[in-house]
Amino acid sequence: AAPESKLAQRRPGYGAAATLWNLQADPRFGEAISTYCTQLVPELELKWPMLRPDAHTFAFERADAILDFARQNDLTMRGHALAWYHDIPDWTRQIKDAKGVERAFVDHIATVVSYYKDKLTSWDVVNEPIPDNPKKVTDRRDSFWSQNLGDRWIPLAFRTAAAADPYVKLAINEYDIESAKGSFIAKRAAFRKLIMDLLDQGVPLHAVGLQSHLHAELEIDTHGLAEFVTELRSWGLEVLVTELDVNDQKLAGNPAERDAIVAQRVDDLLTAISTSGPVRSILTWGISDRHSWINGTFAREDKQPNRPLPLDGEFKPKPFLDVITKFA
Ligand code: XIL
Repeated sequence: AAPESKLAQRRPGYGAAATLWNLQADPRFGEAISTYCTQLVPELELKWPMLRPDAHTFAFERADAILDFARQNDLTMRGHALAWYHDIPDWTRQIKDAKGVERAFVDHIATVVSYYKDKLTSWDVVNEPIPDNPKKVTDRRDSFWSQNLGDRWIPLAFRTAAAADPYVKLAINEYDIESAKGSFIAKRAAFRKLIMDLLDQGVPLHAVGLQSHLHAELEIDTHGLAEFVTELRSWGLEVLVTELDVNDQKLAGNPAERDAIVAQRVDDLLTAISTSGPVRSILTWGISDRHSWINGTFAREDKQPNRPLPLDGEFKPKPFLDVITKFA
């Protein structure tokens, strides 16, 4: 169990994504998570390619090792992600008939959710179902799953997960719906429509994940976001912040100036979400700038490291962490 001195520093609703690779390679990484967090989520280890080297194998070892770390440190764990347009292994894409695809899809969700029954707090069942730049409110992201199973891939994923674990919280998770930009507002409207349709069909959906991969150069749509979150809660859904970070790729200025803007965006986001109730779960996608997917994916022109997370590259707290402390 974690020592008392650590438990005292923890932010009750705060968690972070972790890879087993980082936990094993850099002791400061696990140390930071167990100091500040009460929960974690595997960044890669519960995705199809990691779990499923082939059609017959479920390789739970790496995700289990993260669960062991969580248990040793009194952290809860959530699961990410059962059905996603991205990260589908080749052997799955090679299944040529729709029936076979459906069997693989159901088998995967049922097996993985059953295996972790009573061990996780929530699951991202469906990840990123809405296209960027939707033209109509009914637009859905085209994917291998939608091509083979039609729109019912989404209800099927939730019903299969609920049958495998009737108590775990089931979430739908989406990005680029938080900032004030026309295409994001359209994406939020399409996401809202999908959620309404699922609830109308009686689909077992309990929570909505706002990934919150924020863009430092864009303001938060505080009014629109607050309205959306209020509505979700009025429908009985829990609202989770699942993958928060702030991409400062397009931000000029020295590190201190960038950190201030990053913290302000997070404050605006969490203020908007908390107008209609407390945010009980806030997870950042990593915890230190040293280990962030933003650095690999969205490198800055000036070649300086990005500063998207609550701790800097040396694990020192930044203003971002103070904002987490205020809300979590
Ligand atoms: C990212 C990981 O952080 C990267 O390391 C990996 O290469 C790609 O996936 N939305 C999600 C996450 O739901 O699963 C993604 O994670 C980031 C965007």
